[in-house]
Amino acid sequence: MAEGIKVRNCATMEVFNRQVEAFPEFRRAQASIENNINSLLYQTRSFRLREHVMIQVVVHVVYQEESQNISEEQVISQLQVLNQDFSARNRDRSKVPEVWSGLVSDSLIGFELARVGPDGMASNGITRTATTVEGFGTDDQVKDGARGGVAPWATDRYLNIWVCSLGNSILGYAQFPGGPPETDGVVVDYRAFGTNGTALEPFNLGRTTTHEVGHYLNLSHIFGEGRGSTCSDSDYVDDTPNQLGPNYQKPSFPSISCDNGPHGDMFMNYMDYVDDDSMYMFTDGQVARMNATMQGPRASLIQTEQTEGYD
Ligand code: ARG
Ligand code: ZN
Ligand code: CA
Repeated sequence: MAEGIKVRNCATMEVFNRQVEAFPEFRRAQASIENNINSLLYQTRSFRLREHVMIQVVVHVVYQEESQNISEEQVISQLQVLNQDFSARNRDRSKVPEVWSGLVSDSLIGFELARVGPDGMASNGITRTATTVEGFGTDDQVKDGARGGVAPWATDRYLNIWVCSLGNSILGYAQFPGGPPETDGVVVDYRAFGTNGTALEPFNLGRTTTHEVGHYLNLSHIFGEGRGSTCSDSDYVDDTPNQLGPNYQKPSFPSISCDNGPHGDMFMNYMDYVDDDSMYMFTDGQVARMNATMQGPRASLIQTEQTEGYD
């Protein structure tokens, strides 16, 4: 692989584990969110979004070199991928194995760059910040204006996405619902963001952001959240087969583990670790979880309309 990035581990769980140590309320919030979502999902069954909702997005570009100051076209290419993937209008959806094609569904969640900033002023939904920090880590420094990053816009109203250089082969990380507001959102390496400009194979189809926004909407990894590879943990989703651990690169179907034959792992799910061109689906069960999250802990993101200026 060129000077690029290798997928290692998802930093999201490491960040989550650190945050629940630091903020015991986050662990309690997550536990009650899980309870809530489960009762929404399994007691009412119909807790689906009834109409399409839009999430206002702000992208914070934090660059140390001018080459990392990605173009507006690159940002827009990422928004297009999010909209396609979350509505199951992605072209590669046709690659979903026949046995699972019936599970693919539209989440009714859409994304648009904010046209109004938190101050009420017109905006293109992109902020640009020069930094002297050479590579950020997963310690949320990029979200801190006093340490070479930039603070989020109101996290109850905007999905904040920071794009920067992340060290250690980390493609991105997210914060689950219920965490501290000042660090809420997702972070993605500039080489794994969007489909043009600085995006590098095999992570140049925008799927890192799809994966991280999945976490932000409370989806777990498809292989479960236990430490290490085990068949005894779960992603709390019924229609995703139990699988041993992450898959990488470009697996071929079927790939069996945990007695999940004959169809095996659903490695083409956005919440696995395969290359961008090898992931192309959320399941109906995952969509139900995200729908419940949008009406539960992320409900404040649903706004009726964007109004520009004061008139
Ligand atoms: N490893 C990343 C994480 O921390 C996600 C990997 C996304 N995979 C991809 N093909 N873009 O969550
Ligand atoms: Zn992840
Ligand atoms: Ca499952």
